[in-house]
Amino acid sequence: MKSIPGSIVLLFVCLSGFSQIITSPDKKLTLQFQLTEKGEPAYQLSIRDKKVTESSMLGLDLKDQPSLAEGFTISRIDTLSVNEKWNPVWGEVKEIVNNYRELSANLLQTATGRVMIIRFRLYNDGVGFRYEFPAQSKLSYFTVTGERTQFNMTGNHRSFWIPGDYDTNEYPYNTTSLSEVDAVVESGKYTEIGTRSPIGKNVVQTPFTMNTADGLYITIHEAALVNYPAMYIKINQENFSLSAELAPDTFGSKAYLQTPCQTPWRTLLVSFKAADLLMSKTILNLNEPSVIKETGWIKPQKFVGIWWGMHMGTATWNYADQGNIILKNTDWNKLTPNGKHGATTQHTKRFIDFASRHGLDGVLVEGWNVGWEDWAGNWKEEVFDFTTPYPDFDVNELQRYAKEKGVKLIMHHETSGSVTNYERRIDHAIRFMKEHDYDAVKTGYVGRIIPRGEFHDGQWMVNHFTRIAEKFAGNKIMLDSHESVRPTGLHRTYPNWLASEAARGNEFNAWSSGNPPEHETILPFTRLMGGPMDYTPGIFQIKLDYYNTGNKYQVHTTLAKQLALYVTMYSPLQMAADLPENYEKHLDAFQFIKDVPVDWDDTKVLGAEPGDYIVTARKQKGKEAWFIGAITDENKRDVPISFSFLEPNKTWVVTIYGDAPDSHWQTNPMAYSIQTYTVTSKTLIKLKLAPGGGAALMVKPATTEQVKKLKRYK
Ligand code: NOJ
Ligand code: CA
Repeated sequence: MKSIPGSIVLLFVCLSGFSQIITSPDKKLTLQFQLTEKGEPAYQLSIRDKKVTESSMLGLDLKDQPSLAEGFTISRIDTLSVNEKWNPVWGEVKEIVNNYRELSANLLQTATGRVMIIRFRLYNDGVGFRYEFPAQSKLSYFTVTGERTQFNMTGNHRSFWIPGDYDTNEYPYNTTSLSEVDAVVESGKYTEIGTRSPIGKNVVQTPFTMNTADGLYITIHEAALVNYPAMYIKINQENFSLSAELAPDTFGSKAYLQTPCQTPWRTLLVSFKAADLLMSKTILNLNEPSVIKETGWIKPQKFVGIWWGMHMGTATWNYADQGNIILKNTDWNKLTPNGKHGATTQHTKRFIDFASRHGLDGVLVEGWNVGWEDWAGNWKEEVFDFTTPYPDFDVNELQRYAKEKGVKLIMHHETSGSVTNYERRIDHAIRFMKEHDYDAVKTGYVGRIIPRGEFHDGQWMVNHFTRIAEKFAGNKIMLDSHESVRPTGLHRTYPNWLASEAARGNEFNAWSSGNPPEHETILPFTRLMGGPMDYTPGIFQIKLDYYNTGNKYQVHTTLAKQLALYVTMYSPLQMAADLPENYEKHLDAFQFIKDVPVDWDDTKVLGAEPGDYIVTARKQKGKEAWFIGAITDENKRDVPISFSFLEPNKTWVVTIYGDAPDSHWQTNPMAYSIQTYTVTSKTLIKLKLAPGGGAALMVKPATTEQVKKLKRYK
């Protein structure tokens, strides 16, 4: 590790109009920190000769105290250069470079005697900055009522956005200029979302990505969201000044803090190439190292689940059809089963058999525990107990059976938003998991939060999510959280937190107008900038009238695109989301899902444009094998793939799982073709992606036999 500190000591010197510049390690980015004549902190970011931001103000407003936004003098400026490497427990690459220049401004508010540090870390692809409050006599307990943080844009940029919402991220994306954002009209269109709390016409969710007229790509987000509410972006639609907005609690306050403490990092990533944004490791670098020392038990994995059937309406989570359940007074054996319960012992065995036969690691079972009869929409506190299986789910027998078959059952904890209930029962729930060999859990937070008045994105819930990740870490349990606050790179600190949903997943295609074909070309540029998503790809039966005649819904995809998503949508946890019976009809295509890894040595984004297409190549961890995913929006597209990243002077075999010549997401989504050729590092492949289509490729060193037998790609 190389770290070179330096400091400029300006103790008690009252400076007005102070400014200092630092440059990124590669000199491309310049950050100017400034105190105005009124002692207001501000910054400005440039890349080469282009401004990324105009001068932007910094500061916070507090309850019953003067703001921390003006009247500051500089008591000291410290600088630091860091260039080090670290290895994530799992990830898109095996080694991450952490190379930045730091500037920290120690500010003294002369009228109040309060001290605040603003720390900037400037990377080659962006900046992170945060507010820090050392322990001090004039500031101990305080309540943040708002941030004055600005990200002032230079123009009316094209932007990829979903409505700012305190409770959910489950919206499709809009592409408009900043002045055309209308988050209220958009949020109003999506009544299928369980809990919505849109903030205002001009407020959008982060990660928020923009594309400027002079070719810059900019993403605003945050890193290490801990003990603080989530941040949104409020757009001034006349002058394109963007500012931080925070999720409130029931009293309208934002964060209750006690010194010493700090805010999360506010991040601005910038590049001339869209593909480079997808390679950024800055958000991860700004997070703290793993709190888990021995990580051998953490396993990236693929799983199937008793799940899609419920979304298709062919099975139910609930065992009986009776409503109005009082958990502790109910004798479940006396209820009349509805005959459609999904999580039965026999059905689970069928999934275990399938997973075992095809080398998949886990089986998620939703609806295994009592309480689903009246779980949703009642804002009910005592809704689940997380330890009592339904009468037709023999957990001991399934534990034995899964072990015999070498498969792990994955626990499901739907909380229905009743978090007080979940926290009271979590220790029992963990004991139950330990006793029955579960080492991974999918959580869910559908509906309004209890404590009533809290939002999914407020400080209280942010603390809940980290508390759960920490508690599971201490008990060697892996976590996949649905309806949680969107990630901010905390999977570096808690590598047992494999994935989150926190966006509009594939399931919306099951029972709503769905996700348009461009959706998966935008997600990596927005939601996934903060961390992996449990998107649940792999739907093969695309038209849903297969389940009930007259069903107009469908997944907005071709079958080959569903395969490509395993590569383009990075996650160490990937579901093969469709029913075994649908995979059994297409075992040749299912082979790709069996082969595709969930952990990687290296990643190269070969081409990408948000809203249009993404082509990503990844090298399997510890193996000489590459996997490529190419996806397009509603437009058909020719995508050239150069294999120059392969080791030269060697023959490789490529298996292409692509769209058929007549594939189309709407009219012919299930047509696909599988072709195998030999290639070298000099080969250029031309993929033809159908409208809403994609291609998934596997590349492995050729055996002598294959070199003789297979055709060379021409
Ligand atoms: C919403 C989740 O996203 C989904 O995967 C799950 O099946 C339901 N909630 C029920 O918990
Ligand atoms: Ca969801």
